[in-house]
This record gives sequence, C-alpha cells and structure tokens, in this order.
Amino acid sequence: MNLDIESPFSVSTDSHERLSAAEALADKLSLPFSALNPQQLQLVLTQHHIEIRAPELGNPILIDFEEGKNAHRRQFGGGRGQPLAKAIGLKKGANPSVIDATAGFGRDAFVLANLGCKVTLIERNPLIATLLDDALQRASDNLDIAEVITRMSLINHDATAYLNTLEQAFFPDVIYMDPMYPSRDKSALVKKDMRLLHKLAGPDTDSEQLLTTARATALKRVVVKRPKSAPFVGNQKPTISLESKNTRYDVYINLST
Ligand SMILES: C[S@@+](CC[C@H](N)C(=O)[O-])C[C@H]1O[C@@H](n2cnc3c(N)ncnc32)[C@H](O)[C@@H]1O
Repeated sequence: MNLDIESPFSVSTDSHERLSAAEALADKLSLPFSALNPQQLQLVLTQHHIEIRAPELGNPILIDFEEGKNAHRRQFGGGRGQPLAKAIGLKKGANPSVIDATAGFGRDAFVLANLGCKVTLIERNPLIATLLDDALQRASDNLDIAEVITRMSLINHDATAYLNTLEQAFFPDVIYMDPMYPSRDKSALVKKDMRLLHKLAGPDTDSEQLLTTARATALKRVVVKRPKSAPFVGNQKPTISLESKNTRYDVYINLST
C-alpha cells in the first residue's frame, strides 16, 4: 500500500481477544503488525472499535455515528432545511440516490442517509476506509440508527476509476464530493481529525478529473463542497452556489435530463 505519510505505520491491539483480528487486518492492509507503541502512528483494534493513534494528535481518532458530533448533527442539524440537503436537492421530499465520492469520515454521508437518501460512500484511503467500515458495523447493531445505516454502503476505491467503470443502469441521481482543499482554512486545520485526514490522505490534487467524470455520470446533479473563498474546482463554473457560514456548495445541474 502506498501511504503518503512519513512516519512508520503499523497495526496493533490492546486486547488479547482481538489479536488474531488485528493480525488479519495487518495482513489485509499489507502493514506490519507490532506491539503497542505510543511513539508510532498505529491503527489499533480495541475491544470495542478500531482507532488511529497518532502521537502528535493527542487522543485517538475513531469514527462514531452513534454519539458525539454525528449524533448531535442528526438531532439538531436542521433536517432538509440545512444547506447540504438543499444543495443535494432534498427540499421537495425527494430522496435521490447519492454517491459520496470522497467519503472521508462519513459525516456528510450520514446526514444524507439520515434524511432518507441511499448513499454509496467511496473512500480511496484504505486506513480511513477501515475506520469507516468499523463505524458502520458498530452502528448497524444500534437500534436507534440501524435503519439509517442500511442506506449506507462503503467501497474502498478511487472514485474516478469507480465511476469510469460504472454501468449506466447504476448511475446515481447525485454525486457529492468534498475533496481536501490544499490550504483548507485554519479553523478546520486545527481540528485534529482534519489534521489526520491531511496526514493520511494529503491534498486531493485530482479533484478536477473527479468533477469532470462525476458530471458525465450523475443523472441530476453534482455537488462540490468548498471552503467559502476557494475557487471553483478546475475553474468549472457551477449552475448555482449555496453558502453557509464557512462553506460553499457548488451545484452542477445536469441540464440534459
Ligand atoms: C475532506 S475529506 C471528506 C470529508 C467528508 N465529506 C466527511 O463528511 O467526513 C476528503 C476525503 O476524500 C477522499 N478522496 C479524495 N479524492 C478521492 C477519490 N478520487 N476517490 C476516493 N476518495 C477520495 C480522501 O482520501 C479523504 O478521505
């Protein structure tokens, strides 16, 4: 696996019962298995979940759809009135099928699935995909959100390559993308989960290619999330833009359908 990170990376566990699962995961990811090492960047299987421990980032990072920010956004995020939902085209009660081409920590995908959309999450970074897969599995056992999770499916692949091989019968209504912006604003950068994403995934320098492919694939629209002051991806002018506090959603409506 070609991970664009300087530190050595390994898989470990703090639970004797998870030892064989941790070794199997190391094997699957072609990473070394090693003992816990607080100086190292490690993917750690605990009794309850999988997390990334990065010495310089403080507390471990995991994805949690059941509690914390995701649960808060689910309850108080503004439903179909929130800018993301409007950009996707949810306001008339429609539930379009969505491909989230840059799934990351799955937060936006979870909002859309919670509002009723069937969402395919595509994430190319195998470590982030591992965290996502683990979070989805745990959440599917939680009766409060299991039904939402049934609308979310994860594919660990590059989205441009995936879309290029997708059969027309499976083209989604909407493709959503939130690529890592090279100089994402400082308030986002100081959040440690965003810093980890930067460290693991690096800036997404191929977003223009993804947008072009997405526009040729989405039946209804492509939505690109950007920092408010960022230029359009590939200088491609959207049909409309919707703004929230720090974010802009550039919406490319497919006028041929
Ligand atoms: C800024 S994060 C997305 C955050 C996400 N919207 C959320 O709510 O958690 C960007 C993610 O997209 C992934 N990514 C970027 N380009 C991709 C591509 N062409 N195919 C698949 N994943 C991609 C990166 O690895 C990174 O994890």
